[in-house]
Amino acid sequence: MKPHSVLLSLAIGVSFANGCQRDFRVISPRDSLDKRSAKDRAPFPPALDDNESILVNSFDSVSIDQWSYYYTHGAHLAGTNRSMAQWTADRWAENGFTSSVVPYWIYLNYPVSHSLFLQFSNGAQLATTLQEDSVEEDETTTYPNRIPTFNGYSFSGNASAEYVYIGRGEQADFARLKELGVPLEGKIALAKYGGPFRGLKVKNAQENGMIGTILFTDPDADGNMTVANGYVAYPNGPARNPTSVQMGSVSFLSIYPGDPTTPGYASKEDSPRADKSAVVPHIPSLPISYRDAQPFLAALDGHGTSGEDVNRTGWVGALNATYSTGPSPDARISMSNIMRDAITPVWDAIGIINGTLQNEVIVVGNHRDAWSIGGAADPNSGSSVMIELSKAFGALLATGWKPRRTIILGSWDAEEYGTIGSTEWVEDYAPWLKTAAVTYLNIDIATSGPIPGMDASPELIEVAKELTKKVIWPNVGSADVYPNQTFYDVWLNKTGANPGVLGAGSDYTAFVHSGISSLDISAGGGPEDPIYHYHSHFDTYHWMTNFGDPGFVVHKAMGQYLSLLLYHLANDEVVPFNVNDYASALSSYFESLQETVAGAGANVSLNLSELASAIDTFKTAASDVTAFKEQAVAAEDRDKITTVNHSFRDFQRGFISQGGLPGREFFKHVVNAPGIDSGYGPVTFPGITEAVQAGNLTLAAEWVKKTSAGVRAAAEILSPYDY
Ligand SMILES: *[C@@H]1O[C@H](CO)[C@@H](O)[C@H](O)[C@H]1NC(C)=O
Ligand SMILES: *[C@@H]1O[C@H](CO)[C@@H](O)[C@H](O)[C@H]1NC(C)=O
Ligand SMILES: *[C@@H]1O[C@H](CO)[C@@H](O)[C@H](O)[C@H]1NC(C)=O
Ligand SMILES: *[C@@H]1O[C@H](CO)[C@@H](O)[C@H](O)[C@H]1NC(C)=O
Ligand SMILES: *[C@@H]1O[C@H](CO)[C@@H](O)[C@H](O)[C@H]1NC(C)=O
Ligand SMILES: *[C@@H]1O[C@H](CO)[C@@H](O)[C@H](O)[C@H]1NC(C)=O
Ligand SMILES: *[C@@H]1O[C@H](CO)[C@@H](O)[C@H](O)[C@H]1NC(C)=O
Ligand SMILES: *[C@@H]1O[C@H](CO)[C@@H](O)[C@H](O)[C@H]1NC(C)=O
Ligand SMILES: *[C@@H]1O[C@H](CO)[C@@H](O)[C@H](O)[C@H]1NC(C)=O
Ligand SMILES: *[C@@H]1O[C@H](CO)[C@@H](O)[C@H](O)[C@H]1NC(C)=O
Ligand SMILES: *[C@@H]1O[C@H](CO)[C@@H](O)[C@H](O)[C@H]1NC(C)=O
Ligand SMILES: *[C@@H]1O[C@H](CO)[C@@H](O)[C@H](O)[C@H]1NC(C)=O
Ligand SMILES: [Zn+2]
Repeated sequence: MKPHSVLLSLAIGVSFANGCQRDFRVISPRDSLDKRSAKDRAPFPPALDDNESILVNSFDSVSIDQWSYYYTHGAHLAGTNRSMAQWTADRWAENGFTSSVVPYWIYLNYPVSHSLFLQFSNGAQLATTLQEDSVEEDETTTYPNRIPTFNGYSFSGNASAEYVYIGRGEQADFARLKELGVPLEGKIALAKYGGPFRGLKVKNAQENGMIGTILFTDPDADGNMTVANGYVAYPNGPARNPTSVQMGSVSFLSIYPGDPTTPGYASKEDSPRADKSAVVPHIPSLPISYRDAQPFLAALDGHGTSGEDVNRTGWVGALNATYSTGPSPDARISMSNIMRDAITPVWDAIGIINGTLQNEVIVVGNHRDAWSIGGAADPNSGSSVMIELSKAFGALLATGWKPRRTIILGSWDAEEYGTIGSTEWVEDYAPWLKTAAVTYLNIDIATSGPIPGMDASPELIEVAKELTKKVIWPNVGSADVYPNQTFYDVWLNKTGANPGVLGAGSDYTAFVHSGISSLDISAGGGPEDPIYHYHSHFDTYHWMTNFGDPGFVVHKAMGQYLSLLLYHLANDEVVPFNVNDYASALSSYFESLQETVAGAGANVSLNLSELASAIDTFKTAASDVTAFKEQAVAAEDRDKITTVNHSFRDFQRGFISQGGLPGREFFKHVVNAPGIDSGYGPVTFPGITEAVQAGNLTLAAEWVKKTSAGVRAAAEILSPYDY
């Protein structure tokens, strides 16, 4: 994700939840802000019942601060800190959850040494520090055991060659470079962050014959909040520290998340290991700061085609250069990136409260591993909230309350390399989860700023939206909208209050593609809020307490919200889904698909009538089951309510009944998946949409059939035939 997603939201109508593997997401224009009006305000103060009050009042910013302090003062890169997993399980256990630490043995790599030089034909050479500043006042940036700046799963090797600026490195950028005749073969790629997932930039470079990739942060991501614009840089001000580097995985996330050596099965100590070469790069890469990137860009000025003439979205950034393609005969890159491979244990912490019904389960998860010692926002703002949430449920359990449905908490390791801890756990328990799981709730970056957002399966939107009206939101930073405000008011005012479609930004991925209803929440900064140093050593407790969320008030509100959502999903007699909303979403995705087909050219025609008819079948099933539910509730007929709950629990399994998407078997959901060339942003009806975009109408027609069959399968599960 890009820290200042909201900045982009307002400009081009996008929504977001700050998952840690993601940039930003586009929502459709019908979700735009202009429907907002003051009468849409939630009542204040919100009315809560006794149990809701116990949960909400249990949240305390002072203890969240303590949990945050703990998580942000010790290294916890994937697979390096078992004691932090145990500590998490112990806190949950103190609050009444039966907790344990579950290991998986996964393939990871760690940095050994690296170097990067800009070499000029006159023999001059510029060495790049490849380091972020250590700043006195931010203690953990000075820890000697902080990891060097690197990319997880990057290739171990050297490269030395002329280089080409490739913009954001998406396939369309490469198409433009080829059209312009820019030589790529044997060159090194200089790529700007933003747009597609970083691993896909490397993949695209590799597939075009390039031999290395340098990834840089551009200050254009920061809108007006820049040093060039007069703002003071961190640690003394809200602007980006010029040495800030975005680390992160370069796995091919849109092909396969999880351990690349165990596709489709859990990574146990003795598991067979598959060839990983289709999922990780075989050219080296290094991430650098904007300060370090400046001379590399400037050295291409006047060579190749200027950025203005390239004329591609996101191509020209905010540094002092023309963003020319190069190459320049006068400038070469010499890079070395030496990594150490390991098959090593990682540790998930799992906490359970058995419900009265053990065949209905709600899972709530957050990852624990971070690139930096800190990880104050990504992901440990979520981890701190999860401890406080366990405390809130402990308080409720103390009153004699027992959940109707089983509650499971997950603290995932190795998310950062490719949502690994969660994927391996889902693969481990797949048969049971597919029987019992009702919903997965994800919280990754709970807080990197004051504006809330979420992505959700459509049937969850109604309950998720109603509950935002029950949480008081703090008047901080750009979230100061009304004197007395709720989560809902701020969310509506700032983003339009419409949950986005789930792509593959965080640990919900394996759940979604197992046909499990999911939701992901997050709060981030707007254009006037301090810059969040995403995946950098500056994502620290010091930043959080001085800039991100002083007083942990946003953390608290996010936790209160997540608790209410969990409570209702686990406790309401009828699973609080509105499946008619799923039907409406299908219709709206269908309209977009028609636009995609129409936009693909006059000679493209695809018969979508089978899909239209499957959507009608689904619509009828959704409205039938809703009517059946209302009758069952009115008659207090427990058996029929159970029938409805099980239809709700299971219907999404129908969407995954058709085998995986072309070339990426893991991704099975026929309605939504990450884009093959975006990596985290979602594509709806992905099998059809991407085949049309690739110009393969045979494949598109095949996927019209498969998608229709998936929609019909979901409709059949939803229909309460036995009434
Ligand atoms: C694990 O994290 C804890 C808490 O931050 C820290 O105290 C401990 O030193 C870390 N362990 C290792 C091996 O780095
Ligand atoms: C939950 O119930 C299952 C099945 O009855 C049992 O095996 C397990 O020990 C229980 N777990 C907890 C945490 O009580
Ligand atoms: C940046 O500032 C300019 C001038 O004040 C303003 O017009 C523009 O909307 C601002 N952009 C953002 C993203 O805030
Ligand atoms: C840039 O591309 C757009 C279409 O993508 C085109 O409409 C516009 O004319 C182009 N501008 C220049 C300067 O070539
Ligand atoms: C931008 O670069 C040009 C040419 O390299 C240089 O003359 C100019 O001083 C630079 N401007 C700034 C603001 O650094
Ligand atoms: C790779 O580059 C490093 C740093 O320049 C150098 O020490 C090492 O010998 C090189 N390795 C190979 C195989 O060329
Ligand atoms: C709250 O929980 C108690 C059990 O502690 C239960 O008896 C009561 O019905 C619950 N209240 C509501 C409003 O659901
Ligand atoms: C805010 O809410 C409190 C409590 O309901 C109320 O006393 C106060 O008048 C409200 N303030 C405003 C400005 O509405
Ligand atoms: C809501 O947002 C708009 C645009 O950002 C702003 O102009 C307005 O004052 C905000 N507040 C309310 C109460 O609507
Ligand atoms: C489209 O397919 C349907 C069957 O799914 C068929 O009945 C209809 O005739 C087809 N339409 C065209 C224009 O081929
Ligand atoms: C459509 O026509 C264009 C131009 O004739 C051609 O390049 C393209 O490949 C065609 N697309 C399909 C899907 O047949
Ligand atoms: C189109 O997809 C089909 C599979 O349905 C495949 O056999 C064929 O090779 C693909 N065509 C192209 C040009 O990729
Ligand atoms: Zn994260």
